[in-house]
Amino acid sequence: MSLDLMLGRTTALFTRCFGHAPRWVVAAPGRVNLIGEHTDYNDGFVLPMAIERHIVIAADSNTRRQVTLHSVTTGETASFGVRPKVERGEPGWSNYVRGVIAGFQTPGKKVPGFDAVIESSLPFGGGLASSAALEVATATLLEAMTGRALDPIEKALLCQRAEHDFAGVPCGIMDQFTSILAQQNHALLLDCRSRTTTPVPMTNPEVTVLIVNTNIRHRLAEGEYAKRRSQCEAAARALKVTSLRDATPEALDAAQKQMDPVVFRRALHVISENERTLQMARAIQASDWPAVGRLMYASHASLRDDYEVSCPELDTVVEIAQAMDAAGGIIGCRMTGGGFGGCAVSLVKTDAVQRITRALDAAYEKKTGRQTTIFSSRPAAGARVLQSS
Ligand code: GLA
Repeated sequence: MSLDLMLGRTTALFTRCFGHAPRWVVAAPGRVNLIGEHTDYNDGFVLPMAIERHIVIAADSNTRRQVTLHSVTTGETASFGVRPKVERGEPGWSNYVRGVIAGFQTPGKKVPGFDAVIESSLPFGGGLASSAALEVATATLLEAMTGRALDPIEKALLCQRAEHDFAGVPCGIMDQFTSILAQQNHALLLDCRSRTTTPVPMTNPEVTVLIVNTNIRHRLAEGEYAKRRSQCEAAARALKVTSLRDATPEALDAAQKQMDPVVFRRALHVISENERTLQMARAIQASDWPAVGRLMYASHASLRDDYEVSCPELDTVVEIAQAMDAAGGIIGCRMTGGGFGGCAVSLVKTDAVQRITRALDAAYEKKTGRQTTIFSSRPAAGARVLQSS
């Protein structure tokens, strides 16, 4: 669904629900991570891009000190007061919005009540950062509504805090940063320690980014994500570094005998993935597609074997892609996002997109009895106000 269409639909629905046109319509994109998985909370490197799939919110402020959110996706309505402070509550998805409002409610800074319609072209729980997009869209709306523009980094951190405190997921900063700072036609090499970004042009028309949804829902809140995070902290302590960003492969080798074997493998993934991410940014810039492919497959193997966040369906997609190989127009493929389901990302030759889509879909169904949803995306721009009146 195009942004124009979403703008029209949310405006019409808002008008129907609330009896007048919305004053603001905002959009925030989801993301696909090309490489650099589970490195963000280790102060490492990630290489995501925003995708042409969005959360769109149409809204207007009210004088009732009450927030009413209507979700087109779930058909649910959430309603809660803003005074004295927004709290956690039901339905679950409203916590992403509640958390961001709470972040805006610093001493002396009030947030008015508002009415909103929320529409999404992002699969929820598909590993494409739909929750970050909802947080960032909310923050973009509140900036417009209160006239308080945040520094982009401060905005990303506020959204990340909402996810930690209101949704209970101790996520890194990749998703929120990408949804805010992404640039059209560019991936973003993000140094999660210095929080600096380097745009990596992705303008070659011969290469297409394909997103393959296994349609297995991933659930980060179920504890595995938090467990990985604490294993990484244990590894950093064992290696006597502030975070795994500072650890070298040599230091890890030297410490192996004293380390818990699981913690060792977690560290092995993070340390090698940081290196692969830097190499991938260079390989894309040099149009070195064989190197891009090797790095993507190596990243997947490391996430599957050492970090243990893949699942049989994601492995199946990557195996099918790897078997089709460069001769079939596939450059590389790997799981993307937190894991345990969700999507794989593949770089493919543009002239083979149709054929690859059909072949991947058929082979996946044959092997798993399930169907994929496959779509391509150009790198999209970050969050913005679509309409303000
Ligand atoms: C989720 C988190 C991100 C990141 C990825 C894994 O998407 O929200 O911060 O840790 O998992 O790379």
